[in-house]
Amino acid sequence: MSASRLPERAPCAAAIMPSSTSDAAEDAGTTRPAGRPAHGSAALVGAGPGAPDLLTVRAARALGRADAVLYDALLDPAVLDLAPPHARRIDVGKRCGRHAMNQAAINRLIVGLARQGLHVVRLKGGDPFLFGRGGEELDALRAAGVPVEVIPGVTAACAAAASLQVPLTHRDMARSIHFITGHGSDGTVPAHDWAALVRAGGTIAAYMAHRTLPAVAAALVAAGLDVATPAVAVESASRAEERHVLGTIATLPALLAASAPSGPTLVLIGAVIGLAEAGATVEARLAA
Ligand SMILES: C[S@@+](CC[C@H](N)C(=O)[O-])C[C@H]1O[C@@H](n2cnc3c(N)ncnc32)[C@H](O)[C@@H]1O
Repeated sequence: MSASRLPERAPCAAAIMPSSTSDAAEDAGTTRPAGRPAHGSAALVGAGPGAPDLLTVRAARALGRADAVLYDALLDPAVLDLAPPHARRIDVGKRCGRHAMNQAAINRLIVGLARQGLHVVRLKGGDPFLFGRGGEELDALRAAGVPVEVIPGVTAACAAAASLQVPLTHRDMARSIHFITGHGSDGTVPAHDWAALVRAGGTIAAYMAHRTLPAVAAALVAAGLDVATPAVAVESASRAEERHVLGTIATLPALLAASAPSGPTLVLIGAVIGLAEAGATVEARLAA
């Protein structure tokens, strides 16, 4: 992958929001290359957790065919270098004043660009179907009759587990993995079935939970989770600035608050996380 260079960006999300779907491509400053058929398509593409070399080969191929790439703010610019020079790079996560482009506007933009005959890549962090609103974009594209492909990506929990060298599942320690969000649409912790999560005895991967971790931890402990259960927060998994904060479900909320993460942060909870602390093998841990 070539050295990263800052891509050409739309000046501001608000400035490229289409007034209707039909004029979206012109508003975004993107024109259809000569010879391109008038029916476009879209791909919802997982960009992985941040390291450019965790992009899949299929995702790289989709980027290589793109006429327009809509991406979120945290993306490594090196990934955008895979798109052809003519492709328009549009940062839909960029903030104008205090506002990022809202989901409805992003949906309209993808549809509008595809209707101009362009191949549109909607590049999303991690996997597009895990806490990524990929389903909403898929619905909008289907409703508009735009052909769409979905390309999976490495989700943050898998990247964090790989860095820690802990298995998310293990036949003797964790027979399930539960992806939960710590952040509901109103900003508070969603009403998960905490008792069911604890009963399952698997590993919990809590996305968007670093601010709500005190409430998440309290709910799990109230539902019967052992206070000594190992837990870890992984900030910026797979990136150069990756950091880990290791503790238990009882101690991690305060430890994490003290470490004040500024990058995307994921919390993993469960017996397997104890393997990270000791650097022990599964067999050694079970024998203890
Ligand atoms: C809107 S969700 C998107 C998740 C993404 N679709 C995925 O599959 O990883 C954003 C949350 O994912 C987690 N996340 C994403 N990238 C991360 C990374 N590199 N390291 C740690 N957590 C990450 C954080 O919990 C962050 O708040």
